[in-house]
Formats: sequence, structure tokens, C-alpha cells
Amino acid sequence: MADTQWWQHAVGYQIYPRSFFDSNHDGVGDLPGILTKIDYLQSLGIDFVWLSAFYPSGNVNSGYDVTNYRDVASQYGTLADFDRLVTAFHEAGIKVVIDLALNHTSDQHPWFQAALADPQGPYRDYYLWQPATATVQPNNWQSVFGDSAWTYVADQQAAYLHTFAAEQPDLNWRNPAVRHEMVQIIQWWADRGVDGFRFAGVTHLKKRTDFADVTPATAYYEDVADTVTLLADLKPVLVKNHLLAIGEAGGIDPSTAQRWLDPATGFFDLLLEFDHVHFWEQATPKLPVAALRATLSRWQQSLEGTGWNTLFIENHDLPRAVSYYGNDQGEYRRRSAKALGMLYLLMKGTPFIYQGQELGLPNAGFTKIADYRDLDSRRYYQRQRAAGVAEPQILSQLALRSRDNARTPMPWTHQQYGGFSDHEPWLQMAPGVAQINVERESHDPHAVLPFYQQLIRIKKSVPALRSGRYELIDTGDNQLYVYRRTLNGDNWLVVVNMSDQPATTQNFDLTTSELILTNLPVDAASDDRQIQPWEARLYHWRRLE
Ligand code: NOJ
Repeated sequence: MADTQWWQHAVGYQIYPRSFFDSNHDGVGDLPGILTKIDYLQSLGIDFVWLSAFYPSGNVNSGYDVTNYRDVASQYGTLADFDRLVTAFHEAGIKVVIDLALNHTSDQHPWFQAALADPQGPYRDYYLWQPATATVQPNNWQSVFGDSAWTYVADQQAAYLHTFAAEQPDLNWRNPAVRHEMVQIIQWWADRGVDGFRFAGVTHLKKRTDFADVTPATAYYEDVADTVTLLADLKPVLVKNHLLAIGEAGGIDPSTAQRWLDPATGFFDLLLEFDHVHFWEQATPKLPVAALRATLSRWQQSLEGTGWNTLFIENHDLPRAVSYYGNDQGEYRRRSAKALGMLYLLMKGTPFIYQGQELGLPNAGFTKIADYRDLDSRRYYQRQRAAGVAEPQILSQLALRSRDNARTPMPWTHQQYGGFSDHEPWLQMAPGVAQINVERESHDPHAVLPFYQQLIRIKKSVPALRSGRYELIDTGDNQLYVYRRTLNGDNWLVVVNMSDQPATTQNFDLTTSELILTNLPVDAASDDRQIQPWEARLYHWRRLE
């Protein structure tokens, strides 16, 4: 696949508006707050932002239960604020991608309200209904939050499907009217100047039509690879408006990705897949470096020439990378945050940075259930308690895995509430923000932030790091991750020790190479085959062995 599209040479930055900057001091971030931070984003060197959901919503699942697709929630501002923000981003040379939840609406959305009010009316078929009783659900289908995927509506003697919370009824994507609504919504935002969409939850769109029991109970999707055909009606509006299409595509394999990314017959430009973060969930406490190498390399190799990778290690649905991949303790926090940054950002693909990642922000690690706001975390707590699991055990799991770990307010200064707001924020700050904040990181050459700035600069200015082939150099151990990027004989080598112990390089020769970037002071006398814990090096490796 050629790399002539703007987004193939771009670095994206994800903003979680609720936690970015609070301009009106009500404890909740807002769009005018983002506007005041455009200089910061420019200085980082990013090319586009992805704004997480800011629509009016029932606020049950962090704004992804939308009640109106054509407005801004009042806590985040107004449409006029949105227009000002888009204009200012564009003036700064930064494109704007927004989130669009395709799979479901809020149960408060007028479509669903109309479906409830009039079972014979046109909106009923916007959703998925099956006959049910108060005690017997249509089948064993289970929502991703662990309970039944059906909610019974007594006066209709039927249940509606929801892959997520009951307040998020799933749309019926086989209904052309639903697809037509989405086409119009996309055009409406394109007219406001947006440059693209991150389409949430696209692997959930195509449900089985037989409504039979399934194993596992969450696998009720049919021929997921074929989901792009359901999206075909939306393609002309994307093409006509030159919109970037990013799909949240958890669970797909590389061959499906190839199909979905095919410029002629597919639908998406970029896909956010989660293989490299999911295996970690089964593999704590020690990071399985060999498995990580295999997983990331499989994607790099599979999409070489057939698609384009999306590179990320954090988002608002995952814990902080420095805490789950790296080591957030003592001096290793900075070092491992930088090492992880170099590792993923210099692979082949379009990198995304999630707000705060560029500071090496650690997990929130809350110790009381009352501190959590995330629905998923609170439901997990309730289920585990009901199953008799001891509270400390549940809380330690949440401290590792909860989505709130990465949703904490962005720390801008050392002041109270990290300068995010004068008011107590909707969610507590991450620990250590008196030391870890933008103000401090900007003035410290050894901080994580300037390292990210350097990485972005290098990534964008070195053709081999943008377009060169990726090749894993298999060290066969469980510590090092070494790979090469090559373009027309120009070779670059990334060497990262992903462990708390020193490692020794064996199967490659560094003598003819020039060290371009490292996260440790370079000691000329040291043995360059010894790689310190969490050390990361970028070499310009001119000659092949
Ligand atoms: C995708 C969003 O990223 C996530 O936060 C949300 O829980 C799901 N969609 C369901 O709405």
C-alpha cells in the first residue's frame, strides 16, 4: 500500500474532554478549555486530535450513551465553542477527528423513546427486539459488562438488546433507515469542518439473526469480517468529504483488517485493534515480552503492503502503559515511559498518544470504591462482591485494570488539582502530580515530555521511520525488544530492554552504528552490549551484517 495519504505521515493525540482542561471551573473539562491548550499540542508536534465523545448523553457510560448526535453536552460547551475549536485547530495546522458511537444510542435518545412509545412505529426497528418474559430472556447473550444483553420491557412483552449497559440499546444496522441516519449525521459534522471520525465498537454491529444461544455468551456476532458490507452506505459520505475513518475494532484478526483497510473494497483507513493490550490481561504480573514481540510483529508483517497499522499503547478504556507495561516506581517511571514511547512510536504506522501518556502519568490506583466513576469498574466491584470476593482483592484488581486509571484530569501545573481546575475535579488526580505535570516536564530536559517531542520529530523527519519495512530481530529472550526499520538501504535499529534487569545483546552488531537517541546518559566507556533496565536506544545502523 502506498503511503501518500496525510494521515500516514501524521501523529495523532487523543483528548478525553472531560479531563483535559476545565475553563469554567466546575470540575469538568470542556471545549473552551481545549482551545486554550492548542499551543501545547502544537509544541508537542502532533498533526491531528481525536476528541472522545462530547455529545449530550445519559452520562451512564462516559458519554458513549448519546442522546443527540448533533450537539455538544452543555457541560462541555456549545456548538459555537465547537466551531471555534475546529477553526483554531485548523489555524494551528491540526486536524480534528471526533468520536461516533455507531453501535448504540442512549435509552434516552428520541429514537429509542419513540420505539418504546409506539411498537408499531418506524423507530421500533431501529433497535433489536425479541419476545421475552420477566423471567425468560430471549437467549443466553451476555453484555460486555457481564450481565444479560437483554432488558425486558413489560408492557411490550419483549426485550431489547444492549451489548453494553442497559441504557445503551443496540441499533439495528440491518435497517437501512439507521444507516441513512448515520450518513446524515456524518455529513452534518463534515459541514462543521471535522476531518474524520473514530467509529466506536464497529466489531459489534453485525449480530446473528437466528438469536440462538452462543458460546461464549458474548460471541453473538455473525461473520464479523463481512461487517464492512453493512457500512458500505456510509462510504460515499466519507469519500466525498475526504474524511479519515478510524475504526475501533477489538477482536479482529489481521486478515479481516486487510479486508477492512482495502482502499477499494474496505471502509477504514486506520483500525484500533487490541491484541497487544489484551494478552497482558491474562499475563500479570510479569510482562511476557516474547508474546508482545510476536503479537506486534504479526500485525506489522501482516499489514506490510496490504494496509496501514495504527500504533497506540493507551486510551481512555485502558490503564496507563507505564503502570501495566512499564514500571511506575522510582527512577524507572520516567525511564520505562520513554522506553515504551520509543518502542511503539517508531514502528510502521500512524501513532496515537493519549493525553498524559507524554508525561508518563501512572495509574490512578484508587483505594476506595467510592473514588471510582467508571460504570464498568463499579459493576465489576458489585459482581465480585456478590460472588463473595474479598474487598481488598477487588480493589487491587481495579487499581491495576480500571478504566478510571487513565481518565484522571490532566496535570498542567504543580498547583492544587494540577491546575486542571480551581474546583474539585469530577475524578481525583493521579498520584504524584505535584511532580508530574506539564509545567515541570516542559522545563526538565530529562523528563518524559521532551523525549516524546524528540521521538515525534524523528519519526516525522526520517523517511525510513515513516515508510520503511519493519523487521523483528528475535533475541529469543524475555527482556529485549529489538527491531529494524529499513528503506532503500537506510537502516534504523530500535533496542529496548523491557525489564527491570540488565540484558545483553548477542545476535546483532552495533559497531557500525550511530546512537541517535537514548533514554539514559551515554557513557562512552560502557559496553554497548549491556542494555540497562528499561533502556531504549535508537541507532542509525548503516551497514547490514
Ligand atoms: C467505545 C468507548 O471507547 C468505550 O469507552 C465505551 O465503553 C464503549 N464504546 C461502549 O459505549
